[in-house]
Amino acid sequence: MKRRDFVKTAAAGAAAGAVPALAAPAGGQPATAQPAAPAVHTRAARPVLVADVSSIRFRNGGPESAIERAFRGITEGEDILDACVAGVNIPELDPAEMGIGYGGLPNADGVVQLDSCLMHGPRKWAGGVAGLEGVKTPSLVAKAVAELTDHHLIAGKGAQDFARALGFEIHDDLNTETSRALWLEWRRRVDPDHWLDPQERLRGTGRPEEDAPASMRRFHDAALKAGLSMVDDGLIDRDSFWGTTSLEAVSPDGDICGVTTTSGLSWKIPGRAGDSPILGAGQYVDNDVGAAGSTGRGEANLYNLSCFMIVEFMRQGMSPRDAGMAVLERVRDNTVESRLRNSRGLPGFDLRFFIVNKAGDYAGVALYGSAESAFAVCDENGAREEPLEGLLEGSPRD
Ligand code: GLY
Repeated sequence: MKRRDFVKTAAAGAAAGAVPALAAPAGGQPATAQPAAPAVHTRAARPVLVADVSSIRFRNGGPESAIERAFRGITEGEDILDACVAGVNIPELDPAEMGIGYGGLPNADGVVQLDSCLMHGPRKWAGGVAGLEGVKTPSLVAKAVAELTDHHLIAGKGAQDFARALGFEIHDDLNTETSRALWLEWRRRVDPDHWLDPQERLRGTGRPEEDAPASMRRFHDAALKAGLSMVDDGLIDRDSFWGTTSLEAVSPDGDICGVTTTSGLSWKIPGRAGDSPILGAGQYVDNDVGAAGSTGRGEANLYNLSCFMIVEFMRQGMSPRDAGMAVLERVRDNTVESRLRNSRGLPGFDLRFFIVNKAGDYAGVALYGSAESAFAVCDENGAREEPLEGLLEGSPRD
């Protein structure tokens, strides 16, 4: 069957309500993937997955985390990308995970807008969505873009229309009570003259003068600082502020894939797309070489096409760890605006990379490593957290 015929067949199936086939059942090939070119298996490798901690700390009430679900799939013969997407669907659907999917922290207008992209190494297929509203699992829509269309990236209302046409459930609002309450608190911190705290009013205290942003400060600068102050106050988990999960996998056959999914920067300007839906920025896979995915300040990855560069450095012979560090050095050196630098002249934000190569070697590196910062690994020894290695000492806020 030619790809054109396959797309027609798959679209007809989708219209008839066959979309759940996109989410492959455990241990099975998705119906939409069977007629495609077979994966090119090159050689055996050590199966391994690396990911952000959202992929190990959230289970949505079920028995498995994302990384465990994906590892089970790839070692039981499930298509590598199907297994990884089924994995990240777990934290996407978990309302307690505030950085991705359902319950992800919303944009400045209080609307949850989701980004995702993925790459299937052996098939060389990729798909992405940006600014998708109303669908809890943007990774599945990104997968539909990869499988059913000639395009890579569908954004905004077009992405929602695409999902609706394929039978995805469209929700009016992906906020949870928690994400909405946090958005309200952020509004109060940014604009305390207009957004009031009833508890403060009942106490008759109002807000201390020093909480108000300086009137001349640019809105997004104030917005970012207000958001980060909520991280400092323990209201938002640090891992959720630029919250993303990115999962990179090497199968027992040495095939490679990656998927990244996020609600993006908390309180972002509506319509802002970060690195996560953009190939080469927040995600990149080359089946001959390896894969890299990222969390953290997306704009830094967009400016440096970080994940593409990591894979290219590995192609030139670098280890996953050295390739990640080389790109972190480039990000550090390209961070020249004072508003982006801390008092030491270093980046005032964090960036994390999860990297595998074709042999199953892996690394988790960050601009700033600390005792608390970790990434997730799953291999024959099970799922676990390992410390991220930092390029820089201290914290981005120092
Ligand atoms: N890395 C996620 C974002 O910046 O949107």
